[in-house]
Formats: sequence, structure tokens, C-alpha cells
Amino acid sequence: MMTELVNIRDHVDDVIIDLRYGTENNFTGQVIYDFSDALLRKGTALRLRRASLYLSELGYRLKIWDAYRPVSAQLRLWEVYPDPRFVADPINGHSNHSRGSAVDLTLTDKDGNELLMPTGFDDFSSRAGRTYEGISDEARRNALLLEDAMKKAGFIPYPEEWWHFDDKDLYDVVDQGKKKGDKVMGEVLQVIRERRSIRKFTDRRISRDDLAVIAEAGAWAPTGKNTQSYQLTILDDTEEIQSLAKEIGKALGNEKYDFYRPQAFILCSNLKIEEGGTNMVADTGCVLENIFLQAKSMGIGSCWINQLKELSDVPAIREKLRSYGIPDEHIVWGCAALGYAEEEPKAPERRATVKFADL
Ligand SMILES: Cc1cc2nc3c(=O)[nH]c(=O)nc-3n(C[C@H](O)[C@H](O)[C@H](O)COP(=O)(O)O)c2cc1C
Repeated sequence: MMTELVNIRDHVDDVIIDLRYGTENNFTGQVIYDFSDALLRKGTALRLRRASLYLSELGYRLKIWDAYRPVSAQLRLWEVYPDPRFVADPINGHSNHSRGSAVDLTLTDKDGNELLMPTGFDDFSSRAGRTYEGISDEARRNALLLEDAMKKAGFIPYPEEWWHFDDKDLYDVVDQGKKKGDKVMGEVLQVIRERRSIRKFTDRRISRDDLAVIAEAGAWAPTGKNTQSYQLTILDDTEEIQSLAKEIGKALGNEKYDFYRPQAFILCSNLKIEEGGTNMVADTGCVLENIFLQAKSMGIGSCWINQLKELSDVPAIREKLRSYGIPDEHIVWGCAALGYAEEEPKAPERRATVKFADL
């Protein structure tokens, strides 16, 4: 796979790695990320290898200052230096560094001594740009040599920074290790794409704090006329979850029925259609989808459980719902089974019809 993130060292011989944002030796004076391996998409690393082989024949080596940069590091840089000419604004889109397809680098001789270049790394003056004005002939020659090698290998030189090159090929933002509470715009679609219905869970518990955040996401869902007439009821006692599943299994004639043995179960109940109208069902869909996406963004798997909507008024089941505090006039329109995924299924084929109505 050309899209996987790889260590540059495994693909480029003789490369020197000096990740400046992994140290305090950068313009912020702060450690921006806590790793020292330079990572790139495999396709990008192979292009870099091509540039390195070409330069090596001429007696030079590549020195890498920055490669893959996690979105959290990009946010940090933007906080410290919010100038869009030099730092990509993570709210308006992501740096190619966060896609693993941009690299900041310079040239050294065979012994690792840096060649004279127009400026130092992350010099935000106009001299860093590719007009190469106001600098010595030697610095211009060296910068042009690097630019030429990188262009030949399939990179696009960034006009404002002599050290920055972007792969010609485009990649999505890399989603690695997102934590609870990350609120990076533009990543919503990524969470949407990567959510899958999980039907096999580990026995790892979900904390009540995390369950509260997941339920809060449900509570921010849109509802028709903002009636918010639904109730979210959270079960996190696995014995009780299985006891409810058993009652449903009895009604279905399936004694193995177990909701996929989740660690938590959220019942989304709302008025019956005769009392609340059909928005009751649509509202539940919005609430549950928010729940699934929030859970996914926290590394927690989920699956819609559908059977209660026909069975809420079965006496033994109604009795259970009553014991959870669910009003008798409510139907449980949908449920979320939640837990850490034992298996992440592949995305099933999408057959949705989407088109612009061009008249
Ligand atoms: C209204 C609705 C009811 C569903 N009911 C169930 C269910 O009872 N059991 C189940 O395993 N999955 C259920 N699902 C999950 C779908 O099977 C699943 O979303 C679909 O196959 C697409 O897979 P994905 O969620 O991984 O993208 C339901 C989904 C929706 C929207």
C-alpha cells in the first residue's frame, strides 16, 4: 500500500534525521511533538528516495527537519504562529504535513555538514521564498540544486519556503491517536467515513465519564421543532443488559439473542407516533447517529439495535423499561450497543444515490 505511513530511514539510505519540532530547537522554542522518527506516506518516501539517489551521485545527502506532523501539532503551531503564509490554519484545511505528504529538508555534504542555504529553517522573512533574491550566489545555487532534485522526483516546491516540498500526489489527513475532546474541524467527515457497525466487543469497560460525553453528543442532535421529547437511558451493568437481551430473545424466539454483548447500552425512547408524529422516529435517528460518531471519535465502537421498537409493549419488556425509568407512553425507537471493538469490519459497499438536480 502506497498510502501507509513509513519510516523514511527504511526507504532512504544515508538520510540524516533532525526533527526540529521534536526538540526545543525550533522557532517556537517548544517541543511540538514527542517522537523522533520521520514518517511519510510510502509513495512520498519513495519519491524522496529518488531525490536522494540523484543527489548522492553528486556527493550530497538529505537532512530532514520535518515530515509527518499530527493534527494536534499543527494546532499547536498555529496557536504559536498564526500566519497562513508559513503555518497552515487547521480550521481552514490541513497542512500536507498532516497528510504525511510534505517534507522540510536541506542538503549536507557526505560528512553531514549543512550546505549554505538562503536562510535557516523556519526563517519567516521574504528571503526564505523562491525568488532567491538578496542572498549569495552559493546559497542560491544550493537551494536550486535541492529544488531541481525534488522536482525531478515528483515534488512541488512551496513558493514561500525553500525547504518545503509537497508530494504531487494528494492524500487525506492522517487520523492517528485522536483523543476524547479533539475538536478539529474538517475531521468530521473522516469520523463519518471510518465509523462501522461493531458486532464484536472486548470486555474493556467504558467509563461513566465517557458514556456521559457520548450521550451529550446525542442530546445536541437536531429534533423536529426542537421538541426533544426523547429520553436517553444508559445501561452499563452488563448483567442487566443481558437480562434485557434475554427478554427480547424470548419474544423473538431466539435464545442466543445478546445485543452482541456490549459493555454499555443506550436506549433512545420517544413518544408513540400517534402522540408525537413521525418526527419521533426521525429524531431518534439523528440522536443515535450523533452517539455513534462521538463514540467513534473516542475509539469506542457501536451498533444500532433495532428490535425494541416492535417489542416495547411486550409486558415483561415494558416492566423492565419501567424499572429503568422509561415513561409508559414511550417506545424505544432505537438503541446503541457500545464497547471497544474486538474486530473492525471493512466498509460495506455504499449504494446511496447522490446527485445534483441539474435541470
Ligand atoms: C435503522 C437501523 C436499524 C439497524 N438495526 C440493526 C440491528 O438491529 N442489528 C445490527 O446488527 N445492525 C443494525 N443496523 C446497522 C446496519 O446493519 C449497518 O449500519 C449497515 O449494515 C451499514 O454498515 P456500517 O454501519 O458498518 O456502515 C441498523 C442500522 C439502522 C440505521
